[in-house]
Amino acid sequence: MNPNDSQTLLIKNLSTHFFTGKGVAAAVDDVTLSIPRKSIVGVVGESGCGKSVTALSVLRLVSRPGRIVSGSVMLDGEELLGKSPGEMRQIRGNKISMIFQEPMTSLNPVYTVGRQVMEAMRIHGNTSETEARDRAVEMFSAVGIPEPEHRLRSFPHQLSGGLRQRVMIAMAMVCRPRLMIADEPTTALDVTIEAQILNLMKELEEKFDTSIMMITHNMGVVAEICDYVYVMYAGRIMEQADIFELFDNTKHPYTLGLLGSIPRYGGVRRRLYNIKGMVPSLLDLPKGCRFSPRCEQATPECESREPELYDAGAGHYVRCFLHANANRGEKQ
Ligand SMILES: Nc1ncnc2c1ncn2[C@@H]1O[C@H](COP(=O)(O)OP(=O)(O)OP(=O)(O)O)[C@@H](O)[C@H]1O
Ligand SMILES: [Mg+2]
Repeated sequence: MNPNDSQTLLIKNLSTHFFTGKGVAAAVDDVTLSIPRKSIVGVVGESGCGKSVTALSVLRLVSRPGRIVSGSVMLDGEELLGKSPGEMRQIRGNKISMIFQEPMTSLNPVYTVGRQVMEAMRIHGNTSETEARDRAVEMFSAVGIPEPEHRLRSFPHQLSGGLRQRVMIAMAMVCRPRLMIADEPTTALDVTIEAQILNLMKELEEKFDTSIMMITHNMGVVAEICDYVYVMYAGRIMEQADIFELFDNTKHPYTLGLLGSIPRYGGVRRRLYNIKGMVPSLLDLPKGCRFSPRCEQATPECESREPELYDAGAGHYVRCFLHANANRGEKQ
C-alpha cells in the first residue's frame, strides 16, 4: 500500500506567488503539509503569513496577480493541480468545502438559508427537491440548529451570528466532503459560541470521516481542537508538530511568541501578540531566517542564511539553527 493513501490531503513543495507591479511576492514558499484521514490539522501564524493563500491554492481559487508556480496538491492520492476548471468545480463543495471567516459575506441575503443549503447539495449531486429538504433538515439538526424545519425558512439576517455560522457548517458538510477548510471560522463569535462550534466540528469530523484544515490566529483554538499543527511565517513553515509536542516542547522562538499570546484569564482574549516588530514585506525579506529581525535569540548565522526545516524527532520539525545541531537529520 502506498504510504500516502492514509493522507486525505498532501501538499508538496507548494509555491504560490503574486506577480505585482513592485515585484514577486512568494506568499506560499515551498510549503509541504499533510492532513491524515480523520484528523484536524491547524495552520497558524500572524496576519499575512500565507494561511489563506495556502487554502485557496488547494481549492485552485487563487486569483490574479497570484499563481501557483510549483508543487503538488493531492486529495486522496489524486493530483489536483492538473485538473480542468470543470473538474475543480466538481471537487469544490463536493470533496472539499470551505468555511469563511464572516458568514454574512458568504450567505446570500435574499434567499432563505434552507434554499442555500439545498442548492449547495443539488449543484453537486442528482438530488431531488424532497431528498434535498430532508437532508437539509437532517444536517441542521446535526449542527445543533433548534427547530430545523422552521429555521430552513429563515433569511440570514434573522439568525444570530452563532446560528449563521452553524448554517455555514451545515452547507460545508452537507455533501460529506473529504476535506473541510475552515478559515478563521469562529473569529466573529463570542467565546461560549466559539466553544460550541469547535465541539461541533470535532463531532462532525468523527461522524462523517471528514478531515479538517483549521486556519486560525488563535493558539487557544488550536489547543482546543487540533491534532497536529503547522506554524507559518512569511510564506514558510517554521515549525510543525503534534499538538502535545507543540505545546509541551515548543522549539521555535516564533511559536513561543505566539503561545505567549494565548489569553490566560477570562475577559481578555485573542490576538494579544507580544512578539516585537512587524511581519516583513514579502517583497523585501531578510536574507537569513525570515524571523531573525524579530528574534531575541538570533545570531549572526541566522542573519546570513536561512535554516532548513530540521527533524527534531517524534514528528516534530523546526526551521531554526538553535535546534539544528541536536537533531538527527534534515527534512526537504
Ligand atoms: N491579491 C494580492 N496581491 C498581492 N499580494 C497578495 C494578494 N493576496 C495576498 N497577497 C500576499 O499574500 C500574503 C499572504 O496572504 P494571506 O491572505 O494568505 O495571509 P493570511 O495568513 O491568511 O493572513 P490573515 O490572517 O490576515 O487572513 C500577503 O501578505 C500578501 O503579501
Ligand atoms: Mg487569511
